[in-house]
Amino acid sequence: MPLYHKLGKIPHKRHTTFRKADGSLHYEQLFGTIGFDGMSSLLYHLHRPTQVKEVLDALDVSPRAAVSHNMHSRLLKGLELTPTDDYLDSRKVVLFNSDVHVGLAAPRKSQTEYFYKNADADELLFVHQGSGVLKTFMGQIPFEYGDYLLIPRGMIYQIHFDGPENRLLVVESYHPIYTPKRYRNWFGQHLEHSPFCERDFKLPRDLEAWDEKGDFLIKVKKQGKLHHLVYATHPFDVVGWDGYNYPYGFSIHDFEPITGRVHQPPPVHQTFETSAFVVCSFVPRLYDYHPEAIPAPYNHSNIDSDEVLYYVDGDFMSRKGIDKGYISLHPAGIPHGPHPGTYEGSIGKKGTAELAVMVDTFKPLMLTQAALDLDDGKYYKSWLE
Ligand SMILES: [Fe+2]
Repeated sequence: MPLYHKLGKIPHKRHTTFRKADGSLHYEQLFGTIGFDGMSSLLYHLHRPTQVKEVLDALDVSPRAAVSHNMHSRLLKGLELTPTDDYLDSRKVVLFNSDVHVGLAAPRKSQTEYFYKNADADELLFVHQGSGVLKTFMGQIPFEYGDYLLIPRGMIYQIHFDGPENRLLVVESYHPIYTPKRYRNWFGQHLEHSPFCERDFKLPRDLEAWDEKGDFLIKVKKQGKLHHLVYATHPFDVVGWDGYNYPYGFSIHDFEPITGRVHQPPPVHQTFETSAFVVCSFVPRLYDYHPEAIPAPYNHSNIDSDEVLYYVDGDFMSRKGIDKGYISLHPAGIPHGPHPGTYEGSIGKKGTAELAVMVDTFKPLMLTQAALDLDDGKYYKSWLE
């Protein structure tokens, strides 16, 4: 996050003595990425953050390919995913490659018995249904319907829900997730033509420092395994921090659409970028206003990227038979476009209420069995006249 933020108490000068009331020292931790070259924050703990008591078992949670060479356009009925009590158990990867895992989750219960850290991947959660609080060792972020939650790799967190009805789109990225570079100046500030700016971000707040010793289970995801580590102190013991590396939220409802006289290409919807995929937000907007404009997209050949669309709400203007929570996958190598009737039917329309999240990956995606369980199996033929 190219925005300086701080919470709690920090010393006047970095790497200097910072004492507690009893005269003992706080424990400083540099929490950074890309070696010492990426964004970082300096954290001040009550206890050493290194006190591992036990390294217990490790579960294999790497996704398995049920279809590794996909050439079918697919439609996955995401809301048919069965809810599961536990947050991590509820997360089911449906599409994946070596850069990114795209999953669905329908957790029923808050995560209270353990803490979680993804050591390998930035996590981008999109909240389709439910609300609650993301609790981290750098503060808390309340969330609600329509929020993206960007959780940088290494962040220890718990997710607490207000109720049992929750639906999340889960994107795990093995490359850092940033806002698009073209929307930022060389200081990192978002420019005037950006569809969002710093004011729209939900920064962590309400830092709580827990001074507790005992047995604290942290599940650490690394190299496809979920390791179970027991720490001797509460992981949320940070009394203060400052820097640039921290989790944040952003509501899709705060994305300001870019429109034009004729059809604007998908990059105008871009919200996040990585070196391996992009994330776009399709939000309610006015249609193209050239008197002869065709608002529906033209057929297009994403020759070198797979396109994943997660339909959130509203009528999706270019497709038929699409409902909330559906995921469409259009694989690289074949063109795709509006369904018969929607291309012609869009002419003269003034606007759309569609709400969707798109993930375009530069490498092909593989499908898990969980994806096939949700697949309608006939979508690829739905353009036949
Ligand atoms: Fe497309």
